[in-house]
Amino acid sequence: MKHESLSDDILLLETERLVLRPLQTKDAAGLLALYAIPEVTEFTDIPTMQEESEALRWIEELNAMRRAGQGLRWGVFDRESGGLIGTCGFHHWDQSRRRAEISYDLSPKWWGQGYMREALQAVLQFGFDRLNLHRIEALVDPRDTRSQNLLYGLGFKLEGVLRDHDLIKDHFQDDMVFALLEGEWKKQA
Ligand SMILES: CC(C)(COP(=O)(O)OP(=O)(O)OC[C@H]1O[C@@H](n2cnc3c(N)ncnc32)[C@H](O)[C@@H]1OP(=O)(O)O)[C@@H](O)C(=O)NCCC(=O)NCCS
Repeated sequence: MKHESLSDDILLLETERLVLRPLQTKDAAGLLALYAIPEVTEFTDIPTMQEESEALRWIEELNAMRRAGQGLRWGVFDRESGGLIGTCGFHHWDQSRRRAEISYDLSPKWWGQGYMREALQAVLQFGFDRLNLHRIEALVDPRDTRSQNLLYGLGFKLEGVLRDHDLIKDHFQDDMVFALLEGEWKKQA
């Protein structure tokens, strides 16, 4: 499916405990609450935020990325309370090569309960089925063991380490490269 035809309706994903939908400007306060927590942004290039205007700008950048067909990001909402508990999605989406990178974050209060695994199962399914992806990659800081465990559990394979590949909060960091291929995903289903 081409990015032009990805309406909000198509992007609405529901799981047992979660609802995923594209972030909107009305989510700025919830996003600020998430990205003001240093543990959430520690291993990512997302700035630790202090102002709602930063969250708003971030949402606008995500919408621009979606319009350009370079990625998609969902807000992850707790079905029961309706609150924003995290985000996840694709960036560096290369439609001609049928590949994209995945990334995700969750508020620490919700860690250790399988919420991101549940969200990513829906997002990976969407990526392979609706976006016609063949390869989904993830780049992970070697210190981020929670993220590595999550990827292994979803069937991703570690392919190697890119030395000093990322510049995170003024420090060069290695990136562990993980990937999941379409055939591997379908075999697990
Ligand atoms: C990466 C991140 C999303 C992982 O969160 P997480 O809660 O560990 O991941 P999951 O949602 O998959 O939950 C897995 C845990 O829930 C437990 N769990 C409980 N119920 C479960 C269920 N029904 N299904 C699956 N797992 C369950 C698992 O045993 C595991 O616990 P453990 O870590 O104690 O072994 C989180 O650490 C985070 O937001 N980090 C900051 C942002 C970040 O670094 N992102 C990565 C950038 S690439």
